[in-house]
Amino acid sequence: MKTFIAVDLGRSAAKVVAYDGASDKREMLLYPSAVIPAKSLSDEGARARAMSETVTVNSKEYFFGDTAIRQGHDDLLGGLRDDWFGTDHHRALFLGGLKKLTDAGMPDVESALIIVGLPSTMYASHKAQLANVLSALVPQATIKVMPQALGPYFALAFDEKGQETDKIEADGMYGAIEVGQYTTDYALVIEGDPIDDAYGSCSGMSKVAASLQRILQQKDYSVTLAEATQALATKQIKNFGKVVDVSTEVATAVEPLAEEIYMKSREVFGSHLRKLDKIVLAGGGAGLIAPRLSSEWGTLELVPNERFAVADGFLRYALATGTISQQQGKGALWGRLFRIA
Ligand SMILES: Nc1ncnc2c1ncn2[C@@H]1O[C@H](COP(=O)(O)OP(=O)(O)O)[C@@H](O)[C@H]1O
Ligand SMILES: [Mg+2]
Repeated sequence: MKTFIAVDLGRSAAKVVAYDGASDKREMLLYPSAVIPAKSLSDEGARARAMSETVTVNSKEYFFGDTAIRQGHDDLLGGLRDDWFGTDHHRALFLGGLKKLTDAGMPDVESALIIVGLPSTMYASHKAQLANVLSALVPQATIKVMPQALGPYFALAFDEKGQETDKIEADGMYGAIEVGQYTTDYALVIEGDPIDDAYGSCSGMSKVAASLQRILQQKDYSVTLAEATQALATKQIKNFGKVVDVSTEVATAVEPLAEEIYMKSREVFGSHLRKLDKIVLAGGGAGLIAPRLSSEWGTLELVPNERFAVADGFLRYALATGTISQQQGKGALWGRLFRIA
């Protein structure tokens, strides 16, 4: 069996999941979506560390991930533009993920089946272009570009081995909400087909981090946006050697975004909302937003390992395509899913 790789290059962090059937080896990687031109470093230790996060694109060397943040003081807070797909930075992060996998001992990375997501709004217009750009970087690999919103859907439809679960019905209607760093993205999946008209987006977690920063400022804790972002997950900040619990402040900071996401869901899903079999919630912010949405809809389902849901879902889908011959006739879902590819 081939090596399968799924890459989700988010605006805050890259998520990469890979599986090799022969050795039953699985890898999950997360690194910041930061890229800067490589510099010559005087310290030998720093140089050795940077080597593992250096890639060459168009004959130029780039640092990516934590090295780019450390060496470039890039804390990512400016965010990336929507149309960064196909830029050298995007390529560097993609190649960086493959490099990290190779370094982690994943076999046959260069000849793998690689699935890459595109924001649903750009899928139709950029799909072919992105596949060409990435194929040129790894000519031996098979590249598939898929709408990002299908990742969480696949994460529920298949288990870790790519076998169909009973969580998704082939003829069902599903809403998908992905709470990312700068945007929250929506999709509707009817009988395995993503519906273009339902795509939309609203604010993401950066809004919550900014609001947490303001709330803490009023209590005389002056934290950077990067610290506030971290505190969303840890519910703690450090203050002169003491750890301060900020879970109450986080809960307050999340309210406006939770409300915005709820209102936008009603707009995006419109008259379908009532008929949805499930509303699938994913993305790094999903855990914080879930309580507000589940109080409205019993159909809400938080995808496990939510930040990895897109990459993990794509990988499960890739495994499903690899095992299709053993599963034929298992349901109408198959035929539909393979139309998407
Ligand atoms: N465990 C967590 N608890 C709360 N918030 C989190 C957690 N993990 C991540 N986040 C928040 O979710 C944001 C977005 O995550 P992610 O889905 O990776 O975004 P993107 O795909 O846009 O890069 C993070 O920057 C952070 O603010
Ligand atoms: Mg994302």
